Amino acid sequence: MTNDSILPMGPRRDVLQTIGGLTGLALVGPTGAAAEDDYDGQGHDATENGRYALPELPYEYDALEPHIDERIMELHHGEHHQAYVDGANAALDEFEEMRSAGDYEEIKAAKRDFSFNFSGHINHTIFWQNMSPDGGGEPDGELRSALEAQFGSFEAFRDEFTAAAESVEGGGWAMLFYEPVADLLVIGQVESQNELAHQGAIPILTLDVWEHAYYLQYENERASYVEEWWNVVDWTDVCRRYEFLTQTRASENATDESEGQKTDD
Ligand SMILES: [Fe+2]
Repeated sequence: MTNDSILPMGPRRDVLQTIGGLTGLALVGPTGAAAEDDYDGQGHDATENGRYALPELPYEYDALEPHIDERIMELHHGEHHQAYVDGANAALDEFEEMRSAGDYEEIKAAKRDFSFNFSGHINHTIFWQNMSPDGGGEPDGELRSALEAQFGSFEAFRDEFTAAAESVEGGGWAMLFYEPVADLLVIGQVESQNELAHQGAIPILTLDVWEHAYYLQYENERASYVEEWWNVVDWTDVCRRYEFLTQTRASENATDESEGQKTDD
């Protein structure tokens, strides 16, 4: 087996570079009204003036009741998510200070801080958009077809995702990733905010199973929280993320093929 059969080489490597570059854009996506018909993969309010910023929720704090309590949402968004935003920005400041001073003695701690807090910011930004008071039910379209092809049925996918969420060790996440190398959907567990990485794969559905996401309402019954959470999943948002990424991959492949033909001529 040559490397060519494992890794995209030549023009095809651009597919991954482009997909990788789009990761940050597709990750955060638009919220609220901007999300309706003009999804362009652009991040909007998760940054401000080159800094990270707390995005507004696309619904009120009490909108997900009775499945997720208002007070949980208020603390989770306004305090916990804000702390990740502040931590990521503080790490950026630390990097600048180290560069200015030419002193990198604290670099390991600063890099760890950034990885944890930046990841927390992105994870939560997707999580809010993955939910809606009009959520629940099941996906349709291309995402449904892909789930059925890869997991056997939507129910089988949901069972696997639920099992992954329930068994995350400590605080962490269950996530459905789009993996652009093999054009696959992958269910992953993320410990903390940034452990058990799936490099290059892009989360399209995230479920926070840190205790701060459910303990006030469900106490230690994580399984009950996960079961209720399915009632607020915004499949419109998840489907849009999936279709954006697969269409981007397809168009990049088409561009590479046409450029390859030109090179061959
Ligand atoms: Fe959280």
